[in-house]
Amino acid sequence: MEKIIEVSGLGKAFPQKRGNPVTVLRDINFTIAAGQTLCVMGESGCGKTTLGKIIAGLSGYTSGSCRFCGKEVSQLRGREWSEFRESVQMIHQNPYESLNPALMVFDIIANPIKRHRKITKIPALYDEAARLLELVGLTPVEDFVDKYPAHLSGGQRQRVSIARVLAMHPKLIVVDEATSMIDTSLRINLLSTLKQIQEQLNVAYFFITHDLALGKYFAKGQRAMVMYLGRAVEAAGMDELVANPRHPYSRAIISAAVGDTGILEDSGFHKYELKDADIASFHNMPAGCPLHPRCPERISGVCGQDMPPLYEVGGGHQVACHLCREK
Ligand SMILES: Nc1ncnc2c1ncn2[C@@H]1O[C@H](COP(=O)(O)OP(=O)(O)O)[C@@H](O)[C@H]1O
Ligand SMILES: [Mg+2]
Repeated sequence: MEKIIEVSGLGKAFPQKRGNPVTVLRDINFTIAAGQTLCVMGESGCGKTTLGKIIAGLSGYTSGSCRFCGKEVSQLRGREWSEFRESVQMIHQNPYESLNPALMVFDIIANPIKRHRKITKIPALYDEAARLLELVGLTPVEDFVDKYPAHLSGGQRQRVSIARVLAMHPKLIVVDEATSMIDTSLRINLLSTLKQIQEQLNVAYFFITHDLALGKYFAKGQRAMVMYLGRAVEAAGMDELVANPRHPYSRAIISAAVGDTGILEDSGFHKYELKDADIASFHNMPAGCPLHPRCPERISGVCGQDMPPLYEVGGGHQVACHLCREK
């Protein structure tokens, strides 16, 4: 299968006005192939959007490697850079900010088609815009082409955003909390549309969410990665991760989701809570495993000193936790 993005040992540090740069991503590794989904979960501020922006070429990386179709992104220039930027698109969280309020839906979709695909004749542009609106479920198309974003609901706007990125024929779309600002009742519909699009176009997704239940629904049968403070703490198949989480942080967020939503009730999961200690931050990273101050199972003399590597626990399931070290 064609590998679209391969990330290895990737890191990112932001320079600060005063003092040393702050590292917000460390040693991230994953691959996304055509038509696949990688679901990335973790609490607010753990680095999900920064990672999404890096793979979409909207932000640089400061260490490690990020390859697009086998080529190092930081070395791409000219045509190769443009091809990469067109092939990896991003849908943002807020559909109220991401669309130009002064443009009709037709122009929002037709402009990138004109710019990037050199289709300029109005009938051909209309046909292409109509095809994309149908793909994202905005039908009958005639009801939408002459609307302005202000006339649309949050869910409809997000569908326009999706049509606009599809106009570029992307190989991968970074979907960054794209349903978090729309009505709960419409979220599943929008996610189903994204899944249908994946089946029809073989597009890959880097699906970012802090909502485990949504991740479980969207990335069923696909890969998932849990992040904590800029690191991947666990990576596995989505179903395996939910059924058999091994990292204390994953266990805690899954346990919380079971309690909150009931959607995960069938997982037979036991309550698992982290200690109520100070939550570490990028500016105040503890030595050793960043979770150890909150971890109910920390091993004294180990977890507070050594950063755990990612241990392979079988079947492509990896866990960055000393508890998973082979005895
Ligand atoms: N442009 C930036 N400059 C400096 N720090 C940033 C910038 N963008 C994000 N950060 C920091 O990087 C960390 C991760 O942020 P982000 O990737 O937005 O997390 P998430 O999407 O998981 O909520 C945060 O501490 C945030 O303050
Ligand atoms: Mg974010």
